[in-house]
Amino acid sequence: MSALMLFCRPGFEKECMAEITELAGSKEAYGWASIEMNSGFVVFECEQAHSLYSHCDNLVFSRDVWPISSRLSDLDPQDRISPIIASVDQLMKEKGVKSFGDVSTEHAEGDDYRATAKFAGKFVHPVRQALRKLGWLSKKEDPSKPMLRLFFKDSTQVLVGADKPRLRAKWPMGIARLRFPAAAPSRSTLKLEEAFGFFLGDDWREQLSHCRTGVDLGASPGGWTWQLVNQGLYTYAIDNGPMNKQLMDSGLVEHVAADGFTWKPPLMVDWLVCDMIEKPGRVAQLMYEWLHNRQAKYAIFNLKLPMKKRFQEWQDIKAQLDIAKTGQYPKAVMKAKHLYHDREEITVFLDLGNQNG
Ligand SMILES: C[S@@+](CC[C@H](N)C(=O)[O-])C[C@H]1O[C@@H](n2cnc3c(N)ncnc32)[C@H](O)[C@@H]1O
Repeated sequence: MSALMLFCRPGFEKECMAEITELAGSKEAYGWASIEMNSGFVVFECEQAHSLYSHCDNLVFSRDVWPISSRLSDLDPQDRISPIIASVDQLMKEKGVKSFGDVSTEHAEGDDYRATAKFAGKFVHPVRQALRKLGWLSKKEDPSKPMLRLFFKDSTQVLVGADKPRLRAKWPMGIARLRFPAAAPSRSTLKLEEAFGFFLGDDWREQLSHCRTGVDLGASPGGWTWQLVNQGLYTYAIDNGPMNKQLMDSGLVEHVAADGFTWKPPLMVDWLVCDMIEKPGRVAQLMYEWLHNRQAKYAIFNLKLPMKKRFQEWQDIKAQLDIAKTGQYPKAVMKAKHLYHDREEITVFLDLGNQNG
């Protein structure tokens, strides 16, 4: 049986499974998964896994996905490489792959998997060597070619597959490794940095350099505001809580102690960002209204999901936003993701295409 390998935040396996099951159903493909809570992965068994894979680029709760071609168990500690190479050989013939642009050795998350993670980290070297010897791995990393993916359940079991460049996550296993900027007032800053990179692409800083103004609703102490200010945007920071002093000294922040649901800017701003801890449906509605009323051009916001029915909650909000934008804004762009730095929340990008009149 073929299958899909999906990575998610540990604790979100149910949401990840619900979403892929729904997607499969919409493509008349059916499958099942037995999940291990807090492992950070889901194996979705499905006959049509390979065709379903090409529809997986908009999944919200999966950080990374690839199709499983074979599964090996009882690997001999004296020679794990030979059976892996035999599987890779078969995969290359089946998929018409001539060589890989890179190889990634992967593992589950959490304390139970710490030893496997260490093993997988080291094992990438002998795999690389073996592939190079056979001429199956490009000399330099080549992101335009398929990447060989090896997921180790432990040091004796491995799932083997190859991804497609178009469908590859920005970071392997969706783990965004960003350095915390020392001057930023809170770790939350990484959420917005990851969101900009994820939704706008690698040149997000260049894109923001053409923008002049921003609003941050629920801004205290200023991690998100810092990202906007760092790109030179004059930012209205709305929060009853205090803002970081150093950030205020930049001269680019106007702190307004007000309710984010009622405060409005004097003129349309380029960016609206919002990290208020509030009912997600209420936040989504507010974001839509700002863009609809031409108070902001683009929005990035977090939706804090309730403990239960997290997938359903997002489905309801998505339907609500879809209805609102369909018809009036045919070119609207809405993307959502459970980012690596998100916790009990997802991040949404919204552009109604309403900025020019
Ligand atoms: C998660 S914190 C924001 C952290 C911030 N993004 C950062 O990077 O430092 C949420 C903030 O939302 C603010 N907040 C909640 N409801 C609000 C409302 N109705 N109006 C304005 N701020 C609100 C809280 O005071 C709190 O400071």
